Formats: sequence, structure tokens, C-alpha cells
Amino acid sequence: MDNIIALVDRFLAPLAIFLSNIFVFAIALVLIVALVLYIIDLFQTTHTIRRNYPLLGRFRYLFESLGEFFRQYFFSMDREEMPFNRAQRSWVYRASKNLENTQAFGSTYDIAKPGNILFINSPYPVLTEELTPIKAITFGPDCEQPYSTSSLFNVSGMSYGAISKPAVRALSKGAAIAGCWINTGEGGISDWHLEGGCDIVFQIGTANYGIRNAQGEFCEDKLSTVAAHESVKMIELKLSQGAKPGKGGILPGAKVTKEIAKIRQIPIGETSNSPNRHIDIGNDDELLDKINRIRSITGKPVGFKAVLGDGFWLDQLLSTINQRGAEFAPDFITVDSGDGGTGAAPLTLIDDMGLDIQETLPILVDKLIEFGLRNRIKVIASGKLINPADVAWALCAGADAVTSARGFMFSLGCIQAMQCNTNTCPTGITTHDTHLQRGLVVKEKCKRVAHYQQNMVKELYYIANSCGVSDPGLFNRRHARLILQSNKSISLENLYQKNSE
Ligand SMILES: Cc1cc2nc3c(=O)[nH]c(=O)nc-3n(C[C@H](O)[C@H](O)[C@H](O)COP(=O)(O)O)c2cc1C
Repeated sequence: MDNIIALVDRFLAPLAIFLSNIFVFAIALVLIVALVLYIIDLFQTTHTIRRNYPLLGRFRYLFESLGEFFRQYFFSMDREEMPFNRAQRSWVYRASKNLENTQAFGSTYDIAKPGNILFINSPYPVLTEELTPIKAITFGPDCEQPYSTSSLFNVSGMSYGAISKPAVRALSKGAAIAGCWINTGEGGISDWHLEGGCDIVFQIGTANYGIRNAQGEFCEDKLSTVAAHESVKMIELKLSQGAKPGKGGILPGAKVTKEIAKIRQIPIGETSNSPNRHIDIGNDDELLDKINRIRSITGKPVGFKAVLGDGFWLDQLLSTINQRGAEFAPDFITVDSGDGGTGAAPLTLIDDMGLDIQETLPILVDKLIEFGLRNRIKVIASGKLINPADVAWALCAGADAVTSARGFMFSLGCIQAMQCNTNTCPTGITTHDTHLQRGLVVKEKCKRVAHYQQNMVKELYYIANSCGVSDPGLFNRRHARLILQSNKSISLENLYQKNSE
């Protein structure tokens, strides 16, 4: 016993004294740091809350950033979050993993809520044996190289730069498996777009990235080289995108790596702002001139992407087309929703500029019919069309095809962290930090991209069959109804007729 007491005295007592000294020292250090921060906060003049509540005010920033995560994981209801709620995202995640997307007990969707869409079931649904393949549509039938596809759901423009190398690779490979197209976005074309061998729509943004000369101007020779790739099927001129109409692309300096700088022909590490519009397109005639110039250089279908404000501009554009002749028309128009996504944009434009696709898609389709150009100009719709019902609505409203950017980002594993503009995307999709990219394994994620597209088409068939048509290419406005404020519904056919009066 005496031995044990002696041992404790010899080793443990000094250890206890040492630890308690450290503890006292740590407390003293924390108090000193707190005091210093308190004094800094009290006398600084920039932040009101910190000046009025020294030290305590600092916790506000911490809680603000943590709040986002707590809300997403613990507190938000399934159908409550923006831009995409958990129910919408979960459908994409499950479809991408090719898991059974069935649910038990009943709907959590408020089917009587004004603004919601419901589809009209036929008393005699189509039998599985009676299904028909989706009929191919042809873009630019009179071009040297028209483009035919039966893919109704495709990948919307996301530039290499805004998204990472593994993301582009997975999209390219996944699209090739699924048989859909990817749009390059405005950042030029890279080997990674071409790698998978999928169909590609090459986008020309206002900075002419990838096809510009030393002065940043449009260069015909460079465009010819890009268009010579067999995979490049169509060219899209970007007039505007839903998240930032009237503002060109913004690529933060942190995302301008050596490779991206080379493809875009811009300085490494410097933020690159594209002009607000194409410098050579300031009116309808110049738009048609440019479309025709690109078509004659490439021999491929050419269209433009825009977010619409109202129908007046379309009246003007479509009459100019009819005056010049239908051969001068764009081969397609991509109409993007005012609430579209982006790699980076000012909040004012994200929130408050441009109309929603629910309003603009029917306007565009109706104007094309009115001017006798509906067969000549194909319509592509984009903007929060990420679940089967959204895509089915767009097809009912008159779109020939639908594209999605954020839907495919979810298929790559996006968790809606809203950090695309900071190079810190935790899922490796919109960052060039190779540590963060490590999580995005191309071999796995390309399968998810393909499954998402394929399961989307599978469920479009579910809706089509239930509506009594044998494939989703046959949807029309009689197949869907919109819930009104009165909680009664109106057929899209009647709704839009009223609008166009
Ligand atoms: C990360 C990111 C990058 C984008 N880059 C482009 C681009 O380069 N060109 C373009 O026209 N649109 C771009 N967009 C917009 C999308 O193509 C699309 O029009 C918009 O997000 C609406 O579709 P969604 O709701 O399915 O995302 C981008 C969107 C995101 C999220």
C-alpha cells in the first residue's frame, strides 16, 4: 500500500499539477483573446452589430452559415426549400442511382394548390405492349448536316470553367450511354466534352470563348475547326440565360486555371466578365445575319438561347424572319426560365429579371404558330424542369425537347450547397480544387448521369401511357391542367388560348 502511495506521489501528482496548469493557462488564453476581440469589436466602425454587441455579435455569422445546413438537413419540410426542395432532389438522386422510385401510403404533394399542374388520365391507358418509340425530330432539315434525335431530355449549357473536368467527363460519358446531347455552355469546347462521344451542342457566348481572335472577336476559322468535330451537331448563340439576362458570363479568377485560360484564350487567374451582349448583334437583322453566317460556315443547325421578357419582341423578330424568308430563320430557339441556374450572377438579376418558363414557353409556341413558323423553328425549354412531371408539362405546352443543367448536377451528386461561384463546391462539380474533385469518380458518376436521363424517359412514358398516348412525344395541351386560385383546374389548351387573345 505504501508503495502505491509513493508511486502516485512520484508520478501522478506532478502530472495532475502539470495538467491543471495547462488548464489554467488555456482559460487565461481564451479570456485574453475574448478581451482583445471585445475591444476590437467595441472600437471598430464597420459592423454595427459587433460594435453594439461586442464579441457576442460575432456568433451571428457562425449561426448564419450553420443555419443553412441545419435547415437543409433537419428543419426544412420535403417540399419547402428553394431553388429545389428535398422531394424534387430525392427523385433525381434515386433515379440516378437507378433505385426503385416508388412511395408508400399517399402523396405529400398538395394537388389542389394553385399553380400546380395535373395530368389528365385516360379511362383506357395504353398497354405496355402498345408503347411506341419516340419519333425523331430533325433540327435544320435544310442544312448541309441536319441533326435528328429522339432524345427529349438533354444536358443544358454549363461551361467548362463553371464546372470541373470530372463533371464534364462524367456528363459526356453519361450522355453517350443514354443517347442524349450535352451543351458546352459558353466556355468553349474541350477534349473532355469530346471524350465520351456523345452529341454536342456548341454554344457561343458573348465573349466568343474558344472561337475568338486575339482581340476577343468572333473568328470564322476557329469556329470551322470546332464545328468540324463529328460530335458537334448544332450551334447555339447565347443571347441570354435566365439567371442573368443582360449580363454576360462571369468566371471568378479562382476558377481560371491554366487549361481553362488556354481554352477560353484569357489570362490565368483573372476574373473574366463577358460583354453584356454580342457586340455584333444589336437588332433582329444582325441576329439573323449572324445565325446565317454561322450556318454557312458550319453547315449545321444554328439557333439561339434567350430568356423572354414578353411576347412583343417575338412579334418583331418573327415578322422580320417572314419578311426575309423562312430560310433565314434560326433552326431552334431555346427558351430559358427567368429562375434558371448559373455558375455566378448578381442576385438582382437572378431574382428579379426575366419571366418564368411557365409563362414564356406557351407564348413562344403560340407566336411561332401565329407566324406560320412552328414547323420551321424547333423549341427547346429549360428552367427547373428536373422531374418527370415538369418535363411532361413542357412537352404538353409545346416544347420539342427539354434541357436541364441543375437536374444533371444533382445526378452528379450536387447537394445544393450554393457555392458554384466560390471554387469550394463540396461535391467537386463546380470547383477546380483537385482535393474536392477527388470525390467525383467519373467511372461511377457517368452511370448516374445515364440512369437519370433513362429513368426520366421511363417515367415520361408512365405519364404518357396514363394519359392514353403511346409515347411522350405525343403530348399536347389537352393532357395537362393548371390549378387556379379557385382550386378548380383549367386545361392548358383553354388557358393559353385565353392568354393569346
Ligand atoms: C453551374 C452552371 C453553369 C451554367 N453555365 C451556363 C452557360 O455557360 N451558358 C448558358 O447558356 N447557361 C448556363 N447555365 C444555365 C443553364 O444552362 C440553364 O439554362 C439554367 O440553369 C436552367 O436550367 P436548370 O433549371 O435545369 O438548371 C449554367 C447553369 C449552371 C447551374
